[in-house]
Amino acid sequence: ASEAVGQWVLMSTGRSPTNIAVIKYWGKRDEALILPVNDSISVTLDPDHLSATTTVAVSPAFSSDRMWLNGKEISLSGGRFQSCLREIRKRACDFEDEKKGIKIKKEDWEKLHVHIASYNNFPTAAGLASSAAGFACLVFTLGKLMNVKEDYGELSSIARQGSGSACRSIYGGFVKWCMGKKDDGSDSIAVQLADEAHWKDLVIIIAVVSSKQKETSSTTGMRDSVETSPLLQYRAQTVVPSRVLKMEEAIKHHDFESFAKLTCADSNQFHAVCLDTSPPIFYMNDTSHRIISLVEKWNQSEGSPQVAYTFDAGPNAVLIARNRKTAALLLQKLLYYFPPQDKDLSSYLVGDKSILSD
Ligand code: PMV
Repeated sequence: ASEAVGQWVLMSTGRSPTNIAVIKYWGKRDEALILPVNDSISVTLDPDHLSATTTVAVSPAFSSDRMWLNGKEISLSGGRFQSCLREIRKRACDFEDEKKGIKIKKEDWEKLHVHIASYNNFPTAAGLASSAAGFACLVFTLGKLMNVKEDYGELSSIARQGSGSACRSIYGGFVKWCMGKKDDGSDSIAVQLADEAHWKDLVIIIAVVSSKQKETSSTTGMRDSVETSPLLQYRAQTVVPSRVLKMEEAIKHHDFESFAKLTCADSNQFHAVCLDTSPPIFYMNDTSHRIISLVEKWNQSEGSPQVAYTFDAGPNAVLIARNRKTAALLLQKLLYYFPPQDKDLSSYLVGDKSILSD
């Protein structure tokens, strides 16, 4: 809490990483509440590299809710922002800071306006600007500021209303978003399957294939797939339920072979659904396909998977290596087959650059 002239400002700051789905969420059964047609599983990335940092402030001096993203003011009028703000305000509790003489009653939070400033620590234009980190961070930080007592499961169901995949970024490690059965969405929450320390060997490398903004947003893409793709129904009802169980087992037992096979198969099926949509959606490009071939050939020649690949609603490859040694080899292969124009590798690598000397 800091005091302005005759006024006060109460602030809170938080940081949330983005997450990468290894069993994909694609398709909503309720668009307003953001309820999915299937469960999904993801791994939350290291907050040092791909995360959102958000500061939220309230003050009687603020006359409206406002938000800045990477220093630029953006509109808060969208339904998704409004849902998150409303749901957090509803759960706000009494707050008191005796030293500063600040006392906020539960019902007063409704009248106080918020200012929100959020930054991504990764290039926003790199096609990785997932809303997952942003909404998870907004909900978490706002909850902290407004003294919300709800558990992480409840917070995840609020973040879900900002962006579906955001519910999984409330936790670190491996996370499952349970689709839930209820119409009000109260059981559509994320749960942690294993924490950050569970599978330390894995190394995730993100190969930025294109920094262009995707042509079809996930919202539009999902809507079109739900309406037109027969494969989506089959996937959601028949394939994903058993795949989720197998993936949970693979994670529990550090079974990389099963983990990699399931991850690649699920990414490929998600993109097959996109192709099965009318009009078809092409998120991957030739470079993405060449990366898949490289990994598939390598895995085949080794006799067991060394690397898993997965692609979201864009051409960038997320590659998961079984250990650091494999990750170093993978990096060498990527740099050999896709030589960067600029030889200064440090400008390409975000994160732990020491892997280059392994
Ligand atoms: O939460 P959204 O609307 O950004 O959708 C995310 C969809 C995928 O990234 C393709 C898959 C997933 O489960 O994260």
